[in-house]
Order: sequence, then structure tokens, then C-alpha cells
Amino acid sequence: MSAGNSSSPRRASAGLRLVLLGAPASGKGTQGQRLAQSLGIPKVSTGDMLRAARDAGTELGKLADGIMSAGKLVSDDLVIRLVDERLNQPDAARGFILDGFPRTLPQARALDELLERHGSRLNAAICIDLPRELLMERATLRRTDVRTGQIYHLKYNPPPDSAQLVHRDDDKEETVRKRLDAYDTMTAPLLPYYQGKNILSHVDGAGSPEDVSARIDRVVRQLNGALDGQAIAGETSKNASTEGGADGG
Ligand code: AP5
Repeated sequence: MSAGNSSSPRRASAGLRLVLLGAPASGKGTQGQRLAQSLGIPKVSTGDMLRAARDAGTELGKLADGIMSAGKLVSDDLVIRLVDERLNQPDAARGFILDGFPRTLPQARALDELLERHGSRLNAAICIDLPRELLMERATLRRTDVRTGQIYHLKYNPPPDSAQLVHRDDDKEETVRKRLDAYDTMTAPLLPYYQGKNILSHVDGAGSPEDVSARIDRVVRQLNGALDGQAIAGETSKNASTEGGADGG
């Protein structure tokens, strides 16, 4: 199933706030793009924002550049500020897909707090699972079109001749290894965190992008059903209490 067809999650997912988790190169960017398109809500990627800042030569970009190339994580304060600003943009009021954030427990807690300030909370965290050897192959053969931001893979999703390709600095084998280690130490603890909140789903990241999309779409459809149910229950109890109040008054 491809994103956008009749069995895709419907666009009415206004207010859907979800986090895509998974190791480097597990497919968060690829699936985030598809999902953003099918749901009509923005994908917010801290990696993309940091790379854009680096390419624009801003102070923030210069600061982040060395850290990213070394396969380490940029400071919590810095990315939390970036995300706070981004989620305050009007388009994010309709919902959003976070890709690459949060990546540490302090970032996850800061996200909860900033959503709480807006009277909302996360609906779901979806983790894309993939074995390490496949992660390595996906990262080292990834190429991105600088003009469109489209993500390609030299073996699995070859770019057209017209694409203007870049090979990410941090996709060299040695750096990918460091990023995978950073994921195991700093980001994997988010799984029990979201499990404890009862909003975590795992999706198998193996197979074609369409296969993985279909698995994620199933999770999102279930989520939509649950959210619709809550909205209907909320409406019903609101009406019941209004009616009750009128009766009693
Ligand atoms: P970021 O850009 O977030 O990198 P990442 O999490 O390491 O994830 P990737 O972008 O590498 O992979 P992906 O999961 O999006 O996979 P993709 O879809 O591209 O972060 C980069 C750096 O920025 C970090 O190391 C850190 O320094 C800094 N940073 C960012 N956020 C931060 C934060 N919150 N806190 C601190 N520091 C932060 O797919 C990979 C490849 O596989 C592609 O070639 C794709 O075409 C291919 N592919 C995808 N799906 C399939 C499939 N099903 N079958 C075959 N090929 C596939």
C-alpha cells in the first residue's frame, strides 16, 4: 500500500501529535515524509533543521556542525529551543510528526512540558525496528537530493539522473557506528519511557518503504479510531452533564 491511496489514514487526523523513534537510518525520514503527506500535517526533523542551519552558516549551524560530523548529540537545550519555536508555528497547531526528537530523556520531558503548556500531549510514539547490519547498509548508501530534500538509496531506491545528490558527512561507516552507539545509550531509554505512558508501538522496518508504510498506517488508523472514540465519548459526557445540569437546575 502506498501513502495517499484510499486505505491510507485519512486526512482528518487533525490534532495527531506523534513521535517517530528508531535508530539512525531506520527509515524515520522516509516514513515521516510519507505520513506527513498523507495526513496533511508537518514533519518536524531536528536533523533537517540542524543541517539547514549549518548550510546557512548560522552560529547555531556552526556550533552543531562539528558535533554532528563526530556522530555525537547536539546539546539538549539547543534542540529543545529549536523544537519549541517550530511547534509554535501555526501549521503545527493541526498536529505534527516529530522525527529525530526527542533523543534523550531530558528532551522527552521537555517535550511533555511544552505540550502541557499548550494544553495538549503526545498521542503516540512509533518505533521503527531494524537490525544493525541493515541500518549500516541503509546509512552508508543513502543519498539526498539537495534541491528537493528527497531521500534516496543507491541500492533500494536509486535516484533519477537529474537528482543533485549529497552524501551526508555523518553517513561514513565509522561515524554511523558512533551514532548507533549514541542511540543505544541515549535514545533507547525513551522506549520504556513511552511504554510507561502506554503510547508506544513497534513497527518492523524491514521490507520495502511501501511495506513499512502499510504497517505504520495500520497503527495510525487504530489511533485515529481511538481518538475519535475519545472525542465522541467526550462529546457524549459533555452533553449528558449539560442535560443533567439543566434537569437538575
Ligand atoms: P538525524 O538527521 O535525525 O539522523 P538520524 O536519527 O540518525 O536518522 P537518519 O536521518 O540517519 O535516518 P532515518 O531514520 O531518517 O532514515 P532514512 O529515512 O533517511 O540526526 C543527525 C544528527 O543531528 C545526529 O547525529 C545529531 O548529531 C544531531 N541531532 C538531530 N536531532 C537531535 C536531537 N534531538 N538531539 C541531539 N542531537 C540531534 O533512511 C535511511 C536510508 O535508507 C535512505 O537511503 C532511504 O532511502 C533508505 N530506506 C528507508 N526506508 C527503506 C526501506 N524500507 N527499504 C530500503 N531502503 C530504505
